[in-house]
Amino acid sequence: MLVLVTGGTGYIGSHTCIELINEGFEVVILDNLSNSSFEVIHRIKEITGKKPHFIHGDLLDEKELQKVFNVYDIEAVLHFAGLKAVGESVHFPLRYYHNNVTGTLNLSKAMQETGTKKMVFSSSATVYSLHGTPPFNEETPLGAMNPYGRTKQMVEEMMHDLYHADPEWSISLLRYFNPIGAHPSGLIGEDPQGLPNNLIPYITQVCVGKLPYLNIYGNDYDTHDGTGVRDYIHVCDLARGHVLALKDLYNKRGVSTYNLGTGRGYSVMEIVETFERITGNRIPYRFTERRPGDIHVCLADPNKAALELGWQAEKDLTEMCKDTWKWQKNNPDGYSTAKKVVVTS
Ligand code: NAD
Ligand code: UFG
Repeated sequence: MLVLVTGGTGYIGSHTCIELINEGFEVVILDNLSNSSFEVIHRIKEITGKKPHFIHGDLLDEKELQKVFNVYDIEAVLHFAGLKAVGESVHFPLRYYHNNVTGTLNLSKAMQETGTKKMVFSSSATVYSLHGTPPFNEETPLGAMNPYGRTKQMVEEMMHDLYHADPEWSISLLRYFNPIGAHPSGLIGEDPQGLPNNLIPYITQVCVGKLPYLNIYGNDYDTHDGTGVRDYIHVCDLARGHVLALKDLYNKRGVSTYNLGTGRGYSVMEIVETFERITGNRIPYRFTERRPGDIHVCLADPNKAALELGWQAEKDLTEMCKDTWKWQKNNPDGYSTAKKVVVTS
């Protein structure tokens, strides 16, 4: 069973490749390495004993995509490739629409032409409207609030249209909540370029002294301690969800949408405290203004995935933070870390 993983050297894609290989799938990765490193391929081999095929290619290159589908006998596609920085999408909306929407359009065309009609797509909780009441279930009205989120919403709509026009398609739209953590080996993890946008990579860089303190965006939200609450999910649980969603595509046709979250929320302060406990370091922080566009609570109702896919998140916050910390300590400069430091705890 040969599957194409677009964006497979990225954070979530790389963890999913490991699950796929462990489950017996043969993996072809297509990635333009715009936000990832080729080193990931070596690390996947180190963990699984198998090296995935790798194509250094771009979804915007239609000819290259057609070639991929002609050369490899691909049964299904897990489509992770995309740009994902919310703030950047506000400043460069066309870049986001082009990469995420046109890229998916090209991919879907190449799939349609070669009769590959199974796709698992990386959507996001960001498609839900800020005005909805958490926990969000899959029927909660959508209303993405920024260009990045709207690219996800547009692709979701594109997938529905595709299926209505051709009922042979089987598509799973997975709405991730807040993926964090890293592979327990400490060999792969999140490797943001430049200043991190998200809470966890920011905290870990404060922990290793690369950044002086954490800015906490708002302490006057309507939550138990005033800081924002999110549904953090271990990236390995998320990866497992993809394999189950993929297997499910072999049993049915149509478009299915699933939240992948835990249903349990933690505040920014609770995350800080957990990291302090695990690392034994104090994390300096300052309260600052709320970040524009942030919601007070973002929480999944994950019941549909449990009922239909038999999927449930298993790893708790302590494990998420421990694995993140192991990755960060082993790889203080991400994949460009020259010398490996071995972490024992
Ligand atoms: P990532 O940036 O680590 O991985 C994305 C990969 O796609 C990168 O390796 C990048 O080089 C590649 N890529 C981007 N554009 C490409 C193109 N045109 N052609 C080929 N390769 C391209 O991001 P991630 O965190 O692993 O996210 C994976 C997917 O999940 C993305 O679609 C993202 O929008 C979505 N998602 C992520 C989060 C999150 O918090 N990480 C939350 C919800 C949804
Ligand atoms: N936060 C801080 N300081 C920081 C960074 C974040 O206080 O330096 C706070 C935020 O205000 C929020 C919480 O930490 O309350 C989590 O913020 P993140 O930026 O880590 O995550 P978001 O929930 O804002 O968004 C992430 C991804 C989106 C995705 C969404 C749901 O960035 O792309 O999760 O999956 F859509």
